[in-house]
Amino acid sequence: MITLKTKNKKLNLKTSKIFYPLFLLTFLLISSCGQKEKKEEPTFNIKTESKTTPIAETNSDKTQNTNVLGKRMFIACAACHNLKKGEAHKVGPNLYGIFGKKSATTEGFEYSEALKASGITWSEETIRKWMQDPAGYVPQTKMAFVGIKKEEQQTALIEYLKEETKIEE
Ligand code: HEC
Repeated sequence: MITLKTKNKKLNLKTSKIFYPLFLLTFLLISSCGQKEKKEEPTFNIKTESKTTPIAETNSDKTQNTNVLGKRMFIACAACHNLKKGEAHKVGPNLYGIFGKKSATTEGFEYSEALKASGITWSEETIRKWMQDPAGYVPQTKMAFVGIKKEEQQTALIEYLKEETKIEE
């Protein structure tokens, strides 16, 4: 009984002598690791944010803005014009394939004598003048529309029309 007790005590002493420093070491290792992780995490996050997000955001913003503005401007024309192949004429003619076309030449629409006699060929330049002030460009036109005055809005609408009236192959 006595020998067992002393043996146990000796064992306990031995284990505590070995384990205490080991315990300290592991504790130090763990706490220093934890510090490293804490330090690295934020810098890693900042790096990924500054590398990826700004470029992606500016790109998508640009394309989206142009489309959105052009589409919004077309609301002013949509009451009178369709843009796609085979769609009906409304108050105004269908504008499918309008770029490069001579004015007043779409079949099935009754144009004014004024537009027929104008000799205009529709390009970015002539459509800009037209949408800015139709009656100023072609006096006596049937198109009752005040006009879009802001250059930025004209450009966006022209881009939108070019895309939407493109001839299908
Ligand atoms: C109130 C109805 C109305 C609105 C709104 C309108 N248009 Fe027109 N548009 C017409 C009519 C009518 C004509 C035919 C004019 C003529 O014969 O003198 C026409 C003609 C045109 C033509 C010439 C087509 C051709 O075949 O030569 C273009 C291009 C055009 N419009 C673009 C637009 C755009 C772009 C807008 C919007 C900014 C717009 N229109 C808004 C009624 C409208």
